[in-house]
Amino acid sequence: MDMLDLVKKSRSVRRFDASVDVSRDALLSLIETARFAPTGANKQPLRFFPIYEKAACDKLFPLLHWAMALPDWKGPEPDERPAAYIVILADTNIVPEQRVAMDVGIAAQTIALAAANMDLGCCMLGFFKKEDVSNCLKLPDNLVPALIMAIGARGELIRLVDARKDNDLRYYRDDQDAHCVPKRTLDELVYDHSIL
Ligand SMILES: Cc1cc2nc3c(=O)[nH]c(=O)nc-3n(C[C@H](O)[C@H](O)[C@H](O)COP(=O)(O)O)c2cc1C
Repeated sequence: MDMLDLVKKSRSVRRFDASVDVSRDALLSLIETARFAPTGANKQPLRFFPIYEKAACDKLFPLLHWAMALPDWKGPEPDERPAAYIVILADTNIVPEQRVAMDVGIAAQTIALAAANMDLGCCMLGFFKKEDVSNCLKLPDNLVPALIMAIGARGELIRLVDARKDNDLRYYRDDQDAHCVPKRTLDELVYDHSIL
C-alpha cells in the first residue's frame, strides 16, 4: 500500500469488533515499530504497556473518554470495545514529563500506521485522569501515562471528507452511520508566498 493510502486508512476507530482478539505478539510487533521512531536527543524516554487480557481491558475502559464531538453517543458498546491497548508511558527519570509530548506523538503515529498496515483499527486516547490510570495500572511514580492507544479489529466505516467552508471541523455520523472526518483541503494548509 502506498504511503498516502496507509495514512488515509489510519483513522481513529472507536467502534471495534470485540469478538476478534488482539494477541500480545501483535502488540509487541506494534511496539517494535515505535522502538525505531525518533526521540529528542535520542533519549528514548517512553515505555509501552501492552494490555490484552479481557479483565485488564475491562478495568481500563471506564477511565477513558470517547468522541467528545458526539455527545449523544455513550462510547463503544460491550461488543464494540477495543480488544487491546498500548499505554504509552513517559519515564520521568529520563526526561521531565512536560518535554515528552513530541516523542509521544511520533511514537503514537508510528504505532497507528503500523496497526493500519496490519489491518487493525486504532484510536489515540489522550483525555483521561493520569492518576486514575496510574492507579489502575499500578505504575511506579516515575512512569506517567501519556497517551493510550485503543486497538482492535475495525467495526465501523469511516469516511474522510473535505472540511466545509464554514470551518466546522467536528466529526459526525452520516445517514449510513459512517463516521465522517472533515479534513482541511490542501489549498488551505499550504502557506505559500514569496519572501524575496
Ligand atoms: C493527542 C490525541 C488525543 C486524542 N484523544 C482522544 C480521546 O481522548 N478520545 C477520543 O475519542 N479521541 C481522541 N483522539 C482522536 C481524535 O479525536 C481524532 O484524531 C480526530 O477526530 C480526527 O480523526 P482521525 O484520527 O480519524 O483523523 C485523540 C487524538 C489525538 C491526536
